[in-house]
Amino acid sequence: MKKNLGAKAVITPLPVLIIATYNEDGTADAMNAAWGGQCGGSYIALNLSASHLTTENIQRLKEFTVSIADKNNLVASDFVGLVSGKKEKDKLEKAGLHTVKSDNVNAPVITEYPLTLECKAVSIREELGEIRIVGEIVNTIADESILNDEGKVDLDKLQPLVYDSPGHYYRVVGEKVGNAFKDGLALK
Ligand SMILES: Cc1cc2nc3c(=O)[nH]c(=O)nc-3n(C[C@H](O)[C@H](O)[C@H](O)COP(=O)(O)O)c2cc1C
Repeated sequence: MKKNLGAKAVITPLPVLIIATYNEDGTADAMNAAWGGQCGGSYIALNLSASHLTTENIQRLKEFTVSIADKNNLVASDFVGLVSGKKEKDKLEKAGLHTVKSDNVNAPVITEYPLTLECKAVSIREELGEIRIVGEIVNTIADESILNDEGKVDLDKLQPLVYDSPGHYYRVVGEKVGNAFKDGLALK
């Protein structure tokens, strides 16, 4: 028996993306975003409220970084999603996060996260009450500790968080259960 739940957007998995930008005074800000994802080989789409400091920073500078939140940094990742840099000037310091300037974009790289995408905004549009930003990923920085023997990012090592929207929980990406572009061949 199936039930209609109404217009509930239970879309899973949602990522936990930490977007970092520079404020007008040169200090760094960061926020948590679950409404985002890959759109094309080297592009990322974000849906942000116009009211966030991060959104204003991206509209002004057109450059930002996106780190993939991991289990080790769960509390700090939630904190930057709860408090606005508009009200809390020492937001990153309170979160225990540190930054260096990106080599490739005018945006901070948060050193605690092992995987960070450096992005340039190629489209910023207001749509459905949100600001929809598409960023081109110009470089990806990965800590050696999360790479496998082939030099690829290993999700078992990274332990990325996903946002469980029905329960408002964070989960860790689970075990490998199959091979994409391969297992379906059994039915061909
Ligand atoms: C789990 C989680 C997911 C979130 N996802 C989004 C999102 O996709 N878009 C958005 O505009 N805000 C989202 N937020 C809210 C912002 O992270 C939050 O308002 C933040 O304080 C904005 O910071 P800023 O004003 O310093 O940029 C999310 C918060 C949490 C905790």
